[in-house]
Amino acid sequence: MCGIMGYVGPREAYPVLVGGLERLEYRGYDSAGVSRIVDGKYEVYRASGKLSELKNLLGNKLEVDVSVHPGVKAQTHVGIGHTRWATHGRPNETNAHPHVAGSICLVHNGIIENYAEIKAQLKNSGRTFLSETDTEVVAHLIDEFINQEKISFLSAVRKAVSIIRGSYALLITTLSEPDRIIIAKNSSPIVIGLAADETFIASDIAALLPYTRNIVVVDDGEIACVTRGTATLEKDAKPVVREPLHVTWDAITAEKGGFKHFMLKEIHEQPNVVTDTFRGRINQDKQTIDLPDLDFDQLLNAKNLDHIYIAACGTAWHAGLVAKYYIEEFAKIPVEVEYASEFRYRSIPARKNSLFVAISQSGETIDTLGALSYAQSLRIPTFAICNVIGSSIARKADQVLYTHAGPEISVASTKAFLTQLTAAYLFAVKLASIRGTLSAGEITEKLNALVALPNLIDQAIKRDAEIEKIAERYNRFGNFLFLGRGFLYPVAMEGALKLKEISYVYAQGYPAGEMKHGPISLVDANTPTLVVLGHDGVNYEKAMSNLKEVESRGGKIVAITDRATDGLKEAASHVIELGAIPRDMLPMVLTVPLQLFAYYGAVSRGTDVDQPRNLAKSVTVE
Ligand code: M6R
Repeated sequence: MCGIMGYVGPREAYPVLVGGLERLEYRGYDSAGVSRIVDGKYEVYRASGKLSELKNLLGNKLEVDVSVHPGVKAQTHVGIGHTRWATHGRPNETNAHPHVAGSICLVHNGIIENYAEIKAQLKNSGRTFLSETDTEVVAHLIDEFINQEKISFLSAVRKAVSIIRGSYALLITTLSEPDRIIIAKNSSPIVIGLAADETFIASDIAALLPYTRNIVVVDDGEIACVTRGTATLEKDAKPVVREPLHVTWDAITAEKGGFKHFMLKEIHEQPNVVTDTFRGRINQDKQTIDLPDLDFDQLLNAKNLDHIYIAACGTAWHAGLVAKYYIEEFAKIPVEVEYASEFRYRSIPARKNSLFVAISQSGETIDTLGALSYAQSLRIPTFAICNVIGSSIARKADQVLYTHAGPEISVASTKAFLTQLTAAYLFAVKLASIRGTLSAGEITEKLNALVALPNLIDQAIKRDAEIEKIAERYNRFGNFLFLGRGFLYPVAMEGALKLKEISYVYAQGYPAGEMKHGPISLVDANTPTLVVLGHDGVNYEKAMSNLKEVESRGGKIVAITDRATDGLKEAASHVIELGAIPRDMLPMVLTVPLQLFAYYGAVSRGTDVDQPRNLAKSVTVE
């Protein structure tokens, strides 16, 4: 899962490429490179480490005027760039992209699964390889076809993609046609940005926003020829006509906006983005939910549904677990929540009246995409809760409910989670209203609770100074337990995931009632427990009993709750008490202190908060 960027137009290519790669660095950051054609030869710069290393190497090549001067017919500049997250071959300069073979230079995001056999054949034909990557074989393959078969650049690319297997977004240049970039795409995302007289290419839309809002999304199996201001698409050598999307995101929303980290900025955006998720979808006069994006009658078969699968990964999987509680309770439909990586290879007996729901922020997670394809192969109707418009999952699912969280840059997902919970809540209440499983009065209550949510999230964020102090006090511990019950159990797991992914300490999220069946043996003075508990019925009292078990074994407790009882105040070393919260909103609101605890814990440990080691934002490999 790498980030790739390309440019064809009148500006100097390097500053445009590096600017784009900066916005894509969340996709991979173990090495980076750029290339362009100068005087009929390739000029390639590559560096291991973060993009800043490449910038040092490029030095004053980045300090050039990149403005477009109207009326001046400038020379055409063509360049491609890459920021890498290693899959095949160590993260070093030799394995960094671009890779050159003869007249061909390319960058790649994805994995070429049959690279070993192609490499062996090319070696037999006398080709020498410099890197350990799967990517380099594609450059040699195309160059070999051009040399041996005397076919055109485009024909050679077509032939190469008919041979390679796996996932790829490839940007390819050739010395013999120095005014163009050819794109080939399968599974890995790639978009083209069209502007007057120039064309930009990137792995995601956010990277293109400073230049253009007119975006052409390239689909699987397509090849695109990109020249100055134009892009022509084809599939199976037949032309494809696609109107550009007009994107309305503000480029500023993709920047840090004064916060030290994207993660903190995104936590602070939550009141607004949650509002964006339900904006226009609640009719407060009629006290109904309108989800015109979804066809509940024909496609979702809402009245007859008797079973739902949800598949997702990581944070989105936790959102799926909360969604299960909402759907089962409100709409009375049994829900199974699956890790997408497991679901996609299961053997599920096909059943009537099922629905498959994929949850994904990026819309590009390969396992979630695979799970969606598997559900479609079983002819189960599919629907996606997704953030990125035009992403692979959004396009593949029968229907989509967009979360409208805006670009999430921090690898640790925060605002995407709360918007996924909000979208799932809307969906569950709507299903219930169609099926008649909630009364009009109950629906009104549920809508009122949702309308109160942004302010409650805001109040929770305002506790950040207090949470920062607590997080700092606990930064010497290397093991944590996170406990919750009912729909707060997935919230506890989400809190644990946030802490481990950015602080590199072990954190286990667990249903509080399961503690005594094993994990309680971990409890000692060096293993603090964070507990999330709220007044949601029976669970507060039950969680209290579980906490007593921790307390009596000498474990330190940090409690996050709506209203703390005396018993809780006695048992816990620290209590973050947020005040009255409508019961259904507890998962959203009580998540916020956990996000802040993880964030400040990581800051005080000095880790790279937005780009934690070994992780990438969008996991487009299995
Ligand atoms: O883009 P997706 O929602 O499909 O991503 C799924 C997971 O990779 C993602 O939630 C991951 O677990 C986050 N880094 C967690 O903070």
